[in-house]
Amino acid sequence: MKILVTGTAGFIGFHLAKKLLERGDEVVGIDNINDYYDVNLKYGRLAELGIYMPKGTAKACTSEEHISDMQASASEKASDMQASAASSDVKEAQGTAKACTSEEHISDMQASAASSASEKASDMQASAASSDVKEAQGTAKACTSEEHISDMQACASEEHISDMQASASEKASDMQALAAPTLSTKYPKHKFYKIDLSDREAMENLFQTEKFDAVMNLAAQAGVRYSIENPHSYVQSNVVGFLNILEGCRNTGVKNLAFASSSSVYGLNESQPFKTTDPTEHQVSLYAATKKSNEMMAHTYAHLYGIHVTGLRFFTVYGPWGRPDMAPMLFTDAILGDRAIKVFNNGAMSRDFTYIDDIVDGIIKVIDKPSQANKEWNPKEPEISSSSAPYKIYNIGNNAPLPLMTFIETIENALGKKAEKIFMPMQDGDVVSTYADVSGLINDFGYKPDTDLKDGIAAFVKWYREFYGAKD
Ligand SMILES: NC(=O)c1ccc[n+]([C@@H]2O[C@H](COP(=O)([O-])OP(=O)(O)OC[C@H]3O[C@@H](n4cnc5c(N)ncnc54)[C@H](O)[C@@H]3O)[C@@H](O)[C@H]2O)c1
Repeated sequence: MKILVTGTAGFIGFHLAKKLLERGDEVVGIDNINDYYDVNLKYGRLAELGIYMPKGTAKACTSEEHISDMQASASEKASDMQASAASSDVKEAQGTAKACTSEEHISDMQASAASSASEKASDMQASAASSDVKEAQGTAKACTSEEHISDMQACASEEHISDMQASASEKASDMQALAAPTLSTKYPKHKFYKIDLSDREAMENLFQTEKFDAVMNLAAQAGVRYSIENPHSYVQSNVVGFLNILEGCRNTGVKNLAFASSSSVYGLNESQPFKTTDPTEHQVSLYAATKKSNEMMAHTYAHLYGIHVTGLRFFTVYGPWGRPDMAPMLFTDAILGDRAIKVFNNGAMSRDFTYIDDIVDGIIKVIDKPSQANKEWNPKEPEISSSSAPYKIYNIGNNAPLPLMTFIETIENALGKKAEKIFMPMQDGDVVSTYADVSGLINDFGYKPDTDLKDGIAAFVKWYREFYGAKD
């Protein structure tokens, strides 16, 4: 089977791709390798899959070719940005442009340069304030030849701007073409594209070029708390990006689609265990709202186009190669580094911690047996987790919630070291407890996650020590 796995530089996508490749499937991976957390961990996961990404692109930031690409990108973005002139984004871009040592910074730099060009254009059109322009120009200089920048400053004529825009649109179409994939040095049936899910044209090209039998969408802006800080990135990746996945399936006849949802969709619901037949109308974070939107969008495409879609609501996944923004890594890192850990809601929380291998096994079962329409589905009494369309939602959790303090103690025991704890109040966007009813998985697949927390944490700690170097 040829399977698209999105988010293969991420925690779950990496593990899934590895398992699928080991059993002989053909796997195309994609990821935008964003810097929401340490990109070295993402590159490390890719390397485990035999994918070695050229990190050299960023270093070329002084070559003339690159500068002219940057100009093009700048003017392209300029015309977009004239309409909105979001100055906070400009400032953010300015801030990050300075370092210019990684690919992420290059794209930030492009944004910053775009801001600069945009500001120039609006100066001309509406005599807007020019101080930000100078600042933006200043930051761009750090990574470009000074001469070139001053050229740019000198020729801010109307003619020049329109030239820049013309060249921008020319280059834009080049940039949207699908870049060549990176082939795995380890798995002959694996290749990787660095693509952003929200890049509509690149995603269209990907689906047309590769022709998948099945798709598992794991790429997303994850994290509940960060959605308070940076809400736009969630809609861009999780909603716009997911639409591109749905459209790709629709337009190329992919009938087997599974996607990551989340226990967070249960929101204010306190009736536990959470059942997939429970209402999920009361999310408490934008992250959760985007996941709920995915479920609704997926149902629509199942109904309209007969795509067999399955949504999996994951419950707090942990294990080797896990995420640095989640409790196991945060706690382990702090304990080994002699820093105190923050214990929210004074420790009065519980989670249905689910081991990564169990999650991957569940995903593979779903890929192998796509959802079917529920023939008994009654529109007069509509059951929530299935439909007259080929649509199904499952919880995938350990079905055994544990108090946060037990979780911390398990990590302490695995590390052989006690944590210094700072007790804190509940955080916005968080929920007190999660507990998965997994009867759907048991009924349809005879399966339920069952890794013991002690074993899972031991495997995580072993990996952590190896990857980050031995610490006591
Ligand atoms: N880990 C958990 O406990 C958990 C719980 C519930 C749901 N989920 C969901 O499972 C999925 C995988 O989670 P994870 O823990 O592996 O997270 P992760 O952040 O490690 O992996 C997600 C990957 O997607 C990539 N990505 C983000 N936006 C993208 C975009 N626009 N285009 C291309 N790639 C993009 C990121 O670079 C990252 O490598 C996500 O959808 C997440 O919301 C995870």
